[in-house]
Amino acid sequence: MRSHKCGELNTQHLGQTVALCGWVHRRRDHGGVIFIDLRDRAGLVQVVFDPDLAESFAIAESVRSEYVLRIEGIVRDRPEGTHNANMSTGQIEVLGKHIEVLNESETPPFPIESDIEVNEETRLRFRYIDLRRTAMQQKMKVRRDVTRNLRQYLDDHEFFEIETPYLTKATPEGARDYIVPSRTHQNSFFALPQSPQLYKQLLMIAGMDRYYQVVRCFRDEDLRADRQPEFTQLDIETSFMNEQEIMVIMEEMIRRLFKEIIDVDLGDQFPVISYADAMRRYGSDRPDLRIELELIDIADEMKDVDFKVFSGPANDPNGRVVAMRLPEGGDMTRSTIDELTKYVGIYGAKGLAYIKVNDLAAGIEGLQSPIVKFAPADVWASVMQKVGAQNGDLVFFGADKTHIVNEAMGALRVKLGLDRNLLTGPWKPLWVVDFPMFVWDEKAQRFTAIHHPFTAPSCSVEDLVANPGTALSRAYDLVLNGTEVGGGSIRINRTAMQQTVFDILGIGHDEAREKFGFLLDALKYGAPPHGGIAFGLDRLVMLMTGASSIRDVIAFPKTQTAACPLFNAPALVSEEQLKELGIRLRKPEGKTEKQD
Ligand code: AMO
Ligand code: AMP
Repeated sequence: MRSHKCGELNTQHLGQTVALCGWVHRRRDHGGVIFIDLRDRAGLVQVVFDPDLAESFAIAESVRSEYVLRIEGIVRDRPEGTHNANMSTGQIEVLGKHIEVLNESETPPFPIESDIEVNEETRLRFRYIDLRRTAMQQKMKVRRDVTRNLRQYLDDHEFFEIETPYLTKATPEGARDYIVPSRTHQNSFFALPQSPQLYKQLLMIAGMDRYYQVVRCFRDEDLRADRQPEFTQLDIETSFMNEQEIMVIMEEMIRRLFKEIIDVDLGDQFPVISYADAMRRYGSDRPDLRIELELIDIADEMKDVDFKVFSGPANDPNGRVVAMRLPEGGDMTRSTIDELTKYVGIYGAKGLAYIKVNDLAAGIEGLQSPIVKFAPADVWASVMQKVGAQNGDLVFFGADKTHIVNEAMGALRVKLGLDRNLLTGPWKPLWVVDFPMFVWDEKAQRFTAIHHPFTAPSCSVEDLVANPGTALSRAYDLVLNGTEVGGGSIRINRTAMQQTVFDILGIGHDEAREKFGFLLDALKYGAPPHGGIAFGLDRLVMLMTGASSIRDVIAFPKTQTAACPLFNAPALVSEEQLKELGIRLRKPEGKTEKQD
């Protein structure tokens, strides 16, 4: 149908007769001449129709935005003074000779432009129109380039791409499962995989040596800007490699990806930091290292002060008291501080104490704050020295249970960094290692796995049983600019260790056999040492395109309430289908909660 794409024409094509297909981006009547900007995936080109070709001119006059056209014409230089440097085809135009309307279009619900003010629900309902916008086409292109680049790297390094089932059994990654009823096995359900974790381990036991898959994962969990109920992982597993070897090869893959796709140099060696250090310095296990603000422990200074809010947590083994210096923050207004106090409240903080550092040389007189009176001058002097305060700074304080201080002050750190433009560079990757194996769940009164239950500890079975609360795992997360883009570990490859971990997690023998018997069996038949990682492909593309949500880099994402406004899914199914599946709804039809 066409000889060229609209957006690829340039001065090399001058004088050529071309056939183009595309959408009417804009049509303008200019005193007897009609201009049509014709758009396809490659871009826009200007087509001109003169009235001397009466038939074509009449058709050109009748077309509207988003009509689909086929145009034949001759590429020519634009007249003097009408060159457009903002357009890749801005040096030329096509003199239209023949025009055919391939399809008409109703007026689209929103314009096909970059900066549209349309709510996301409408964009998603008309996603096929939203995706026509250059910004979205560009994101889909980066996504294609990213997947291709990653596949290329892994193919070059002897990884096999192997598909694993979607209809399967629960694969725990900490979220709820999406379940699928079976017609042929009434009362039984498949679960959609939260990840291919167990399959990839079985592939290593099967001797596949190196595996990868660009794979959809399904997790029914609370959604955020960087979380979708179905999302894509680049999932990887290797045999006979330790964590250092895996991190080296994966780091090289990511470094090459950023260089080749967006020409970004991520640096020679990504910093590696322990979970404990990350929590201590940044209050987070996915710290944004573009921001240099740090939490400084001051419990030692605060143990004996007259301020219960500080001395309480300072003397509590599960408490924490920190200070965070905001350089040149002394000009912050009372109302901004009040807003920040509300902000940390979201994370459970009961307040946000602060000191304005007016004049260090004046001692306690030079410090301005309602809390200065609660401690003697030497205590404040020592705190100011510890945080490295300078005149004109503001120092914030957080005191509470450790997890509240970490969450609240960690979030404040990021907010201040972004709000006050304190980013020290565009890209800061890092590895976080030495995670604990387990966290204690107060509510359930039991341990839960920090990664998944197949992650190997860095100690023996005996040590794990003796000290489950302090045992570390052989896991590693890749963090970029405060987003966890990948996570992996060396796996357990011996039955005794796997059984021990299940025991600690409160998964008894019978339950373990019922849920994971196949794995426990497989581990008995020569399971090699193995480990791997999975990257969040949507998150990588989000960061690489500067998108603010992963929804913008997924062609057909779900809304924040896990629904699809385009297909109107999830939806009711017929009584007949339910009967076939042996399912009776607990609420009568029509009374099911609306999902959207
Ligand atoms: P994990 O659960 O850390 O590990 O997932 C790996 C990466 O997937 C991305 N991710 C998500 N992206 C979008 N929406 C979500 N709901 C979502 N959940 C996770 C993150 C994360 O780093 N089987 C293990 C990997 C392994 O051990 O090899 C796993 O799934 O970027
Ligand atoms: P109060 O004596 O309760 O008025 O608190 C004095 C200052 O301490 C105020 O600025 C509060 O915002 C702050 N504050 C109260 N609780 C905490 C806390 N847990 N951590 C940090 N600051 C707090």
